Amino acid sequence: MRIDILTLFPDMFNGVFEESIIKRAIESGKVNINLINFRDYTDDPHNKVDDTPFGGGAGMVLMCQPIYDCIEDIKTDDSIVVLLTPDGEVYKQEMAKKFTSAKHLILICGHYEGFDERIRKLCDYEISIGDYVLTGGEIPAMVLVDSITRLLPGVITEESYINDSFQDNLLDYPTYTKPRVFRDMEVPEVLVSGDHKKIDLWRKEESIKRTKERRPDLLEK
Ligand code: ADE
Repeated sequence: MRIDILTLFPDMFNGVFEESIIKRAIESGKVNINLINFRDYTDDPHNKVDDTPFGGGAGMVLMCQPIYDCIEDIKTDDSIVVLLTPDGEVYKQEMAKKFTSAKHLILICGHYEGFDERIRKLCDYEISIGDYVLTGGEIPAMVLVDSITRLLPGVITEESYINDSFQDNLLDYPTYTKPRVFRDMEVPEVLVSGDHKKIDLWRKEESIKRTKERRPDLLEK
């Protein structure tokens, strides 16, 4: 999969893509991530990418021209264009799964006070990572890249994500590691019983119990 990220702040991504699972996925060619500074596409002699809003108001608004030119340059028939914006559809695990079948994702990071409304016309999806406002779309783009990349074939073992929270609309079951007793807190007996049928059943029940307590809205689905 190829992922192109349109941003004014490519350096923000460096550390995030240089560690752990994402780093390995890049090194093994499972994902190819390109950071594109759309300032490189501006026609403006002073490299401007934003201007004041028509009708007045605070802040600067990203202009159409650099983003339109950039998208027209990189888009192919296989591309899916995603705009990160707080007024987009709220991102879910289900969407991450859907995006794993894309050949080419283009993520547009908005910034400053906003972007020209006509930029939305370029996009197949508008996505928000939650009901709060960040300074820009860079962190949301990182969230998408991370959540999609870990699901690509061969990046982590299937066993690692098959029991993820949100799989089957259930939260994950509790897990423990050594020691068996830590400060009087004991690991549930069933987990050391060696009876894998019993363990599977316990985990399923705990998943349902936890989801009922914390996210009853998921069970309604
Ligand atoms: N840009 C600013 N806030 C955002 C959010 N919550 N989701 C996606 N993009 C954003």
